[in-house]
Amino acid sequence: MDDLALARALHVFAIVLWIGGVAFVTTILLPSIRKRQNELKGPQLFESLEGPFSLQAKFTTLLAGLTGLYIIYATDGWNRFLEPSYWWLSAMVAVWFIFTMVLFVLEPLFLHAWFRQKAGSDPQAVLLLLQRMHWVLLTLSLITVLGAVYGSHG
Ligand code: HEM
Repeated sequence: MDDLALARALHVFAIVLWIGGVAFVTTILLPSIRKRQNELKGPQLFESLEGPFSLQAKFTTLLAGLTGLYIIYATDGWNRFLEPSYWWLSAMVAVWFIFTMVLFVLEPLFLHAWFRQKAGSDPQAVLLLLQRMHWVLLTLSLITVLGAVYGSHG
């Protein structure tokens, strides 16, 4: 079996599940919940629906990081990080780092508690802020995916 091809396949598999989930939350879930804000307890509903995805995102982030690192190690591609034309490689690590910090460090440490507290006082504002942050992360992720595929094959 070709280890490198397998690592690349698993890497893209993880990215599809992970960033696809972020796209769903950003473009479908959050806008729908914000629209129904008056009928439902928006922030609580969001937490209960997004909770299982957060667990899935932890696994896929981990898998994407491990397989990505393996590809660099197996191809001895470390010095590509120094070349400007490989900006998308650094972008991948940056996107991965931001999500890892949010999922494994910031959320358990204080984001979760902050969200609950803000949801009690101003639920509309907290959902709007959440929506904006998701848009920023999704945009960065999609630019990275475009750059990675174009850069690898172009
Ligand atoms: C620690 C994090 C990561 C590392 C070390 C890493 C590393 C790599 C490497 C070395 C490749 C192979 C490139 C080549 O064939 O020349 C690759 C492919 C790819 N990566 Fe990542 N990556 C990471 C995270 C991400 C993230 C966060 C995304 C998306 C937002 C992403 C999207 C992709 C895609 C779409 C490909 C496939 C490119 C293709 O062959 O068509 N990666 N990654």
